[in-house]
Amino acid sequence: MAAQVPSESSKNDGDTKTKTSADESPPETYSDLISTLPVRGGWVMPLVLYQNYWLNPARLKHIIPVKEHYKPRSDDIILATYPKCGTTWLKALSFAITTRNHGRHTFAAAAAAAAADHPPLLITQLHPQELVAHLETPNPAAGDLAAIEKLPSPRLLATHLPLSLLPPAISTCGCRVVYLCRQPKDVSISLWHFGNGMLRGGRTTRSSPVQLDASVSMFCEGISPFGPFWEHYLEYWKESLARPQHILFLKYEEIVSDPVKIVETLAGFFAVPFTEEEKRIGVPEEVVRLCSFEVLSGLESNRSGDVTRGDDLVIGKSMFFRKGKVGDWENHMSKEMSEKVDDVLKDKFKGSGLVF
Ligand code: A3P
Repeated sequence: MAAQVPSESSKNDGDTKTKTSADESPPETYSDLISTLPVRGGWVMPLVLYQNYWLNPARLKHIIPVKEHYKPRSDDIILATYPKCGTTWLKALSFAITTRNHGRHTFAAAAAAAAADHPPLLITQLHPQELVAHLETPNPAAGDLAAIEKLPSPRLLATHLPLSLLPPAISTCGCRVVYLCRQPKDVSISLWHFGNGMLRGGRTTRSSPVQLDASVSMFCEGISPFGPFWEHYLEYWKESLARPQHILFLKYEEIVSDPVKIVETLAGFFAVPFTEEEKRIGVPEEVVRLCSFEVLSGLESNRSGDVTRGDDLVIGKSMFFRKGKVGDWENHMSKEMSEKVDDVLKDKFKGSGLVF
């Protein structure tokens, strides 16, 4: 039987022209809802426009309930990212920081690590994508929203959702959000590789690779998963300016340029600052090393097998580690493509104070 659309979401679909007018009944199933949404092909999978964001329709059944059913707690930590901005890295760093003294994290692996006196990150056998429960992407290791509700506090959670698709209580309950973004040109290239990587694994219905110029053009139009990227960035940016105590806004490039400083900032933000003794013996540096591209991408648990997700897509674990470099766009984009992105950045971020 098709999944039912939660009542609240069917009442309010913003600009998406769902069946909500007085003479039509609201959509009862996700298939009904999806059939009412604007759709665009051209990406690895068609995307639909839901409440101003382009989303994979297969994920809507996990995305929509988050607003109604995720109950943020005052001590939740939410890692929010636009895809390809370094989610895997941020999850690993945050997990390593918060479990460094063992026992606080809910996954059994952390308890095992405590017993064996090893850093939990190294013995979990879990990919960083699975280590931290993702609000809209259930996976077998972390579970779904119902499992998240049962996690003891304090919870470490992650999401790709824009602020506007999260419960409004996020802004009032006192929880903390780390938002990680990245130079959009690098995001565009990383997304393009990732999408075509899914194709090569035979994991989508599309048969031919997406061409780079088409991918960059769609990205610049805002048509990319969870796009427009600028709306995504700006929602969190504005919130971070309004509530800096609760929203820590970071760029991938800042972590690359001074990872120890950012690891210390994260620990402070998570309310588990490094002690002077930890700093003296180099614990922040060790967290950086453990979570480096080289170490993480070399772990067997990150090299083989798949990450299964709520959209029925199965993605190779190694696909989350490609180059991990700043400025790789220069090896791919033509002058025209680069200028096209520059124009978008100039236009969309104008006056915001957010620069790349
Ligand atoms: P590239 O494709 O540019 O190499 P996400 O985790 O949000 O999907 O982002 C993936 C990007 O982060 C990829 O970028 C990937 O290589 C990079 N990445 C993954 N782990 C990393 C790490 N430990 N350090 C730096 N970059 C990392």
